Amino acid sequence: MSILNRHPDSANTMHDPLLAWRAEFPILEHATYMISHSLGPMIRRSYVADRESTEIWARRGIRAWEEGWWSMPVTCGDLIGSLIGAPKGRVVMHQNVSICQTIVTSCFDWSGPRNKLITDGLNFPSNDYIYHNLRRQGAQIVPIPSADGMTIPLEAILDGIDERTQLVSISHVAFRSSYLHDLAPIVRRAHDAGAYVIADLYQSAGIVPIDVTKLEVDFATGGSVKWLLGGPGAGYLYVRQDLDSKLQPAATGWAAHAEPFAFMDGPIEYAPDIRRFLNGTPNVPAMYSARSGYEIVNEIGVTAIRAKSKRQTQDLIAQADEASLIVRSPRDPEIRGGTVILDVPNGREVTAELGRRNILVDFRPGAGIRIAPHFYNSDEEITHTISQLKSIVHG
Ligand SMILES: Cc1ncc(COP(=O)(O)O)c(C=O)c1O
Repeated sequence: MSILNRHPDSANTMHDPLLAWRAEFPILEHATYMISHSLGPMIRRSYVADRESTEIWARRGIRAWEEGWWSMPVTCGDLIGSLIGAPKGRVVMHQNVSICQTIVTSCFDWSGPRNKLITDGLNFPSNDYIYHNLRRQGAQIVPIPSADGMTIPLEAILDGIDERTQLVSISHVAFRSSYLHDLAPIVRRAHDAGAYVIADLYQSAGIVPIDVTKLEVDFATGGSVKWLLGGPGAGYLYVRQDLDSKLQPAATGWAAHAEPFAFMDGPIEYAPDIRRFLNGTPNVPAMYSARSGYEIVNEIGVTAIRAKSKRQTQDLIAQADEASLIVRSPRDPEIRGGTVILDVPNGREVTAELGRRNILVDFRPGAGIRIAPHFYNSDEEITHTISQLKSIVHG
């Protein structure tokens, strides 16, 4: 039986119980799927969820809003909350991270003396595009560079934070190298200096355990299409509860009003709770589609997923070393997320050839080929990926 159509047999699932989940993902029957850092595979449950959303619309029409649709940004957010350690009612759904970043940065006055925004040098570009535009309002953007393109020393970030800092932005796991930041000391230093911290959890939630409450981060954001196995259009924003009374996002809309259905003239009177960070009509179908992924990750538990991920990524690195492939991710699993980056000559073309061989990975310029086993991948698939990569690179 070829690696591609191998189904989990009882011997395999006894050795690795998480392989029993493979049956939930149709694409695993015909592809080696190593790209969950980019787009997770579609879940069978999502077909059912999508149908539910359209059937409710068909049967209940306008009544669907008051029967659940209107409150979905918060009820769906609660499913994310339980994955990231947020209390109930502290996460709202939005279309994507870029919108969440825009909402958070719109809470602050960038024209005063506290106008510094620190961004980690491995942050996702979209976040930085938004920050750099804040210079129009007087913000000073201070990137903390990565000398090796892979890691950033904690001290460099801590040294950048001072009494003029308004916001510190950290991508918890770097999309380019899989470097895992230690958030706790950054939050402590920021709070000592009177600054806030926003953590982008897109590359960590669902693969690395995180507790936003324990860490006391002020804001966290992320999306659904990667490790959380949801569809596109379902980003999320966490805000610490005590900030509700302090912050008034300028990027807003009627869903953020205390009484949206009173349709009062402006200015806005913000909702007293997390809803003040909403804007307009929510993306209902995207939330239906994405929920199944959160449910599955919740059912398995991120601790079990992380344990397998550490073992498989360590194994992947060992096989890459044996094949003389250059590793561009931290070797210590404690400071690495779920992806391993391998730097090979002509990485884009090699990635395309892997695709032709039904091995799905991706390439990022300045980084290399990103390979990401998730809980449903078998050890054989890792061996298969590296041996094919080796044969393409070394002939
Ligand atoms: C760390 C990180 N942040 C943000 C994004 C993108 O955010 P969005 O498209 O939801 O704005 C990505 C990847 O697409 C990412 O890897």
